Amino acid sequence: MVLKLLFCGTVHTLLAKGFPHSQRSLRFSWYWSSQLIQLQKLLVLPLRLLGVAKLLVLFFSILERSTKIDPDDSEAEPVESLRGEIELRHVDFAYPSRPDVPVFKDLNLRIRAGQSQALVGASGCGKSSVISLIERFYDPIAGKVMIDGKDIRRLNLKSLRLKIGLVQQEPALFASSIFDNIAYGKDGATEAEVIEAARAANVHGFVSALPDGYETPVGERGVSAVRGSKTKNRNSQAVLKDPAILLLDEATSALDAESECVLQEALDRLMRGRTTVLVAHRLSTIRGVDSIGVVQDGRIVEQGSHSELVSRPDGAYFRLLQLQHHHI
Ligand SMILES: Nc1ncnc2c1ncn2[C@@H]1O[C@H](COP(=O)(O)OP(=O)(O)OP(=O)(O)O)[C@@H](O)[C@H]1O
Ligand SMILES: [Mg+2]
Repeated sequence: MVLKLLFCGTVHTLLAKGFPHSQRSLRFSWYWSSQLIQLQKLLVLPLRLLGVAKLLVLFFSILERSTKIDPDDSEAEPVESLRGEIELRHVDFAYPSRPDVPVFKDLNLRIRAGQSQALVGASGCGKSSVISLIERFYDPIAGKVMIDGKDIRRLNLKSLRLKIGLVQQEPALFASSIFDNIAYGKDGATEAEVIEAARAANVHGFVSALPDGYETPVGERGVSAVRGSKTKNRNSQAVLKDPAILLLDEATSALDAESECVLQEALDRLMRGRTTVLVAHRLSTIRGVDSIGVVQDGRIVEQGSHSELVSRPDGAYFRLLQLQHHHI
């Protein structure tokens, strides 16, 4: 920057004053350039301080940002039992940290109790965000999320979440035993309940075969060799709650083909009698669901069973299928 100023200043003075005076002009430019360097040095500290101040303001604004969602609002209606009907009606949504980037614009989705609904679409289209809205990690900007016909903002969140089983995209486990990790799914779970949940998630045989069985450590320093065990554990946690609603975000994505097959069988069994929302990248894993919704441009642009959607060669699902075939 300084060199550029020096060069431009010199050329400018040479052109303006003519070459005979170039010696004097050069001295003149050197003088101003050295002054500029001093000025720049003087400005560095205040500019740095300004940067630090900006960071501090951001930091304090984050600290002061209180969540509007109270998980245990005593005024809200407690949830005793659920049929499991879900509806997102005219939902507009943007993440609080990026309010000017809309994720959904008039999104509508209705899932009948006991039905399975898959969500598909390009990465970043908002599949996981639908799950987050159903779990009420966030509230929509406009429109509402309803469960059994009630706006979930009117329901006591803690009791609602007890009825919802969630298996997330990035399963995180505690650095503890497999037993503790499964038991985390329910307060005061007994050994029999943990084993039953593990059986339901098709993981009991696999855990029992480990040298330390249910006491095998997992998580941070645990058995990294046990491929896919994290996802399986998470599934067992979700089962333990015996939820009316199951939310599966890429539940089988961390698994190899063989484990995926085993888990798929378990999931099919689990889904029976529960409303299930599944997010899947691999379209082959969702052929049997009751309904598939394609998320695109902040809305559900197409919905129907696999056989209905494949019969529309101009449709969004058909295009996704073709794209996936090209990648395989
Ligand atoms: N916590 C967050 N804060 C701000 N923006 C977010 C957050 N989570 C997701 N987004 C943005 O919201 C949009 C939708 O993201 P989302 O995770 O729902 O997509 P997705 O369909 O699940 O993608 P993928 O298939 O990659 O999992 C993306 O543009 C993403 O960058
Ligand atoms: Mg996602």
